[in-house]
Amino acid sequence: MKILVTGGAGFIGGNFCHFMVSKYPNYKIIALDALTYAGNLETLEPVMLKENFKFIKGDITDRRFIFELFELEKFDIVVNFAAESHVDRSIENPEIFIKTNILGTQVLMDASLNTNVNRFHQVSTDEVYGDLPLDDPALLFTENTPISTSSPYSASKASADLLVQAYFKTFKLPMSISRCSNNYGPYHFPEKLIPLMIKNALTNQTLPIYGKGDNVRDWLHVYDHCTAIDLIIHKGKVGEIYNIGGQNERTNLEVVNIILKELNKPQSLIKFVSDRKGHDLRYAIDASKIKSELGWKPIYDFDIGIKHTVKWYLENQKWVNNIISGEYIRFMEKHYS
Ligand code: NAD
Ligand code: DAU
Repeated sequence: MKILVTGGAGFIGGNFCHFMVSKYPNYKIIALDALTYAGNLETLEPVMLKENFKFIKGDITDRRFIFELFELEKFDIVVNFAAESHVDRSIENPEIFIKTNILGTQVLMDASLNTNVNRFHQVSTDEVYGDLPLDDPALLFTENTPISTSSPYSASKASADLLVQAYFKTFKLPMSISRCSNNYGPYHFPEKLIPLMIKNALTNQTLPIYGKGDNVRDWLHVYDHCTAIDLIIHKGKVGEIYNIGGQNERTNLEVVNIILKELNKPQSLIKFVSDRKGHDLRYAIDASKIKSELGWKPIYDFDIGIKHTVKWYLENQKWVNNIISGEYIRFMEKHYS
């Protein structure tokens, strides 16, 4: 079995490569990544020399390159993680999100049809459903919740989902889609809430919280996202959408306070800053379909997972320091000024 993991040098794609390489010694796992600012080969160090793993640098929007690669490798399964993934960056510059997240997905699907790939799995997000109110905790996103996007990022992911569904109906592409809630865990790029707050607290910099910090996210450890995708690509039905989520809802302020407590840092580091434009209030996933149909069960409780994650960042400060490049500093200074 040959599996292509696009975006394999990113946060979730990298964790997925670690998981699959160790679980399936007889498979060949091939990571493809353009190594944008968010891609990092150091994330793949634990698997780089394994016999059942290979890394290829390349851009999913490069049609000729992708077609040649698919002809050469004859993949059985494609798991598409490759994307521009940061909401704040999509507000500053939507264009690259449209190119990578929509056109890149189309190129991968065309190449999959051309070489008779058995399964094309699109890694989508709960953000395609828009947001939920803060005052009705019983409301959850199901697979039937209508798409209603807020940011250029979520609109690009939703557009890709629609295209994937169209390729299923029109061209019979054997596809599946998963829509997951916010992930956390090792190798998370320090522009996203949890790793940014850990990094800033460790260096006694301020912790910028948008608005009042009362927006809610449903946190899932990245390991549990990997086990869910593994189940979907092996046992999930073609043509189906599966929600994935942890039922670990926390306000942003709660999350930041847990991190400060874990690191023994003062709350005075918190700084409330201007709110994100179009800021989604609350995400919360109903994952009953994947639980009942495929038997998926997350193993991490948030309070334990966040302790492990803080510990990982404490022990891997070199990984963080090595990716804080000139481009990273420029975005951070512009965005938070
Ligand atoms: P990430 O930004 O850490 O990783 C994305 C990877 O894609 C990077 O390594 C980057 O170099 C690569 N990439 C970007 N453009 C590319 C291109 N044109 N060709 C090849 N590679 C390219 O993102 P992540 O958090 O790991 O998210 C992975 C996927 O999961 C995304 O599709 C995202 O929408 C989805 N998702 C993320 C979360 C989350 O909480 N992080 C939750 C649900 C779904
Ligand atoms: O729900 C899944 C999505 O989760 C994924 O599809 C996205 O790729 C991923 O980036 C994430 O999107 P969010 O916008 O929820 O994640 P982010 O870490 O950017 O922000 C989480 C919350 O924290 C959000 O309410 C905004 C807030 N925030 C974020 C940053 C970076 C702050 O208050 N301050 C910050 O500096």
